Amino acid sequence: MIIAVDGPAAAGKGTLARNLARHFGLAYLDTGALYRAVGLAVLESGGDPHDPETATSAAKQLGFDLFDHPDLRNEATGEAASAVAAIPAVREALLSFQRTFAENPPGERGGAVLDGRDIGTVVCPETPFKIFLVADPAVRAERRVKELRNRGVEAISAEILRDMEHRDAQDKSRTISPLVPARDAFVLDTTELDADAVFAAAVDFVNAKNGMN
Ligand code: C5P
Repeated sequence: MIIAVDGPAAAGKGTLARNLARHFGLAYLDTGALYRAVGLAVLESGGDPHDPETATSAAKQLGFDLFDHPDLRNEATGEAASAVAAIPAVREALLSFQRTFAENPPGERGGAVLDGRDIGTVVCPETPFKIFLVADPAVRAERRVKELRNRGVEAISAEILRDMEHRDAQDKSRTISPLVPARDAFVLDTTELDADAVFAAAVDFVNAKNGMN
């Protein structure tokens, strides 16, 4: 079983994906962390994340050391991730790792949950379990501010909203793997829902699909 969870920034993908993985006993991969690690590697080397050669070489040499970096979750890293993510050779370099993880998940699990932007459309288009989360931008910005504050990072809502909308626009308008729901995705608006309600709706969807297959 492969469950794809896609959607814009701070729509609740990570929380839902982790909850689904625990519930169904599946492995979990945060694919945004891969793009963030590439973006961060470029920033750390003083390079330009928009430069295809620099970003592609960082993607090809990606190690696991950056995944614990304190700056991985910063908005600046998110912006750099969005820049490198628009470069086709970067996406190509990260694709096989994601597909291998989905098809042969670690720990002999019976499947995997992947969250990102193009899991249902490009990485695992064959899976019937595709969930696409959406939410009002102002609500998403508030959630991100709360998340940052919980980690001890002070953030200004208006700035987070502006950065997030810029990143979403970039992710939606790129020519390769744009952020768009797959035609057969279950689109769930989480604006008015808490994490438990989102989880319950997603479990219902997966179980209903399972019964139909
Ligand atoms: O999910 P997260 O906000 O950590 O992702 C950071 C950036 O990585 C996104 O804004 C997007 O540009 C890129 N990304 C992507 N495809 C994915 C996951 C993330 O393009 N599957």
